[in-house]
Amino acid sequence: MGANQPISPPTGEEVRRLLKQAASELKARAWIVGGYVRDVLLGRAHPDIDVVVEEGKGFDLARRFAQLAAAGQPVIFERFGTAQVSVPGHLVEFVSARAESYAADSRKPDVREATLDEDLRRRDFTINTLLMDFDGNVHDPLGRGRADLEARVLRTPADPMQTFADDPLRMLRAIRFAAQLGFDLAPELLPAMRKLKDRLASPVVSVERVADELRKMLVSERPSQALELLDQADLLEAILPEVAACKGVQQSGYHTHDVFGHTVLAVAGTPRDVIVRFGALFHDVGKPATAGPDGTFLGHDVVGAEMAAGALQRLRFPQKEIDAVVLLVRLHLRPVFYSSEWTDGAVRRLARDAGPQLGRLMALARADIAASAYPHPEKLGELQSRLDQVLTERPSRLAAPVDGEDIVRVRRIRPGPEVGRIKQRLTELVMDGVIDPNREAVLAYLESHPDL
Ligand code: CTP
Repeated sequence: MGANQPISPPTGEEVRRLLKQAASELKARAWIVGGYVRDVLLGRAHPDIDVVVEEGKGFDLARRFAQLAAAGQPVIFERFGTAQVSVPGHLVEFVSARAESYAADSRKPDVREATLDEDLRRRDFTINTLLMDFDGNVHDPLGRGRADLEARVLRTPADPMQTFADDPLRMLRAIRFAAQLGFDLAPELLPAMRKLKDRLASPVVSVERVADELRKMLVSERPSQALELLDQADLLEAILPEVAACKGVQQSGYHTHDVFGHTVLAVAGTPRDVIVRFGALFHDVGKPATAGPDGTFLGHDVVGAEMAAGALQRLRFPQKEIDAVVLLVRLHLRPVFYSSEWTDGAVRRLARDAGPQLGRLMALARADIAASAYPHPEKLGELQSRLDQVLTERPSRLAAPVDGEDIVRVRRIRPGPEVGRIKQRLTELVMDGVIDPNREAVLAYLESHPDL
């Protein structure tokens, strides 16, 4: 190998070989468990590897593995009995066989030692109880995992009331896995979820864990299945009351569904991007509050934007993401109402107002229109080519090429809000094609129009 050739990260098999060596030196009984085994069998990538270790040898195995893999010291979480070792491309987590549950009023799990069998029975779904030894052979100690994986069913190893009470987040995990993997829920899961829906409320389950599941569901391949299952499980009301309120809100005109049904279709019609999916989820949440007797929803874009901001703050999304989603909700009607009569100035104003979110706004508009019987979906194609055109204009007409200092100097005024107003006005005139988009032309216009 040449000296400068990059060393490629170890494969899953290489990690297994080192695990095997460490376990045999320490005479530790250990298996790979959970998501890695499930995903290998499903042919899906799963870089992180969980190792369950019997007889409390988890930390020793982690240390020896770390040495053999030439990795740093394991990060040890004494309280949880877990240790993590990072090797390039993989996070390997060692867990002593244990039973873990959340008391009804605490978000800190109660952890105690357990046999391997008990450990597996206390896990979330049978498809996550499969074991793989370090030679790559799969074992199914509970005898349900393989069959459920093949039948593509999510089933709890114990009574779902017990499994979900141990950790209520598992209700959302079930729906998330169904949406990600295209699996069905075993029939006993939805009734248990309906009974335990209140347990999802904080402080038992942290908002961050809920939001993380919600993001994963929405960017999955089947977001509509996720939303429908949340509804059927009565969990929608608990985590997305704004969206739940759209149920049964009828709409006339070109609409074929109630607001909730339309929302589900719109979400499913967007690309797999977290911002545009949440934009679609919230785009019509302002409708229930603005429904008029004549079937109109005046101002639902503005009201909806505020509601989306509130919901995403509650879910503790990063502010940058909140701002982007809120912009999509606020502007979602603009491209939908496009018509060929729009001036180039109007097209430029849309490009300016959407800024970096323009691509997502157009994707949302296409999905919004496709989720109804709205005529002339092709008009968005026309708008898109006009947008492409104004975005490539050189020099750009999306802003006036002067700054505040120019305005202060030419108009002999003090810096203040008036400067901003004039600059805004100049921008509008450049966008409308009244002034040429170059500095000299703008400055000349400014001098010759003292009443601007
Ligand atoms: N687990 C559980 N209950 C939870 C979370 C996890 O029983 N609330 C168990 C499952 O056996 C799971 C394993 O811990 O397979 C690892 O959890 P995690 O890494 O969160 O999930 P994965 O199954 O690996 O899948 P993903 O990474 O897609 O979440």
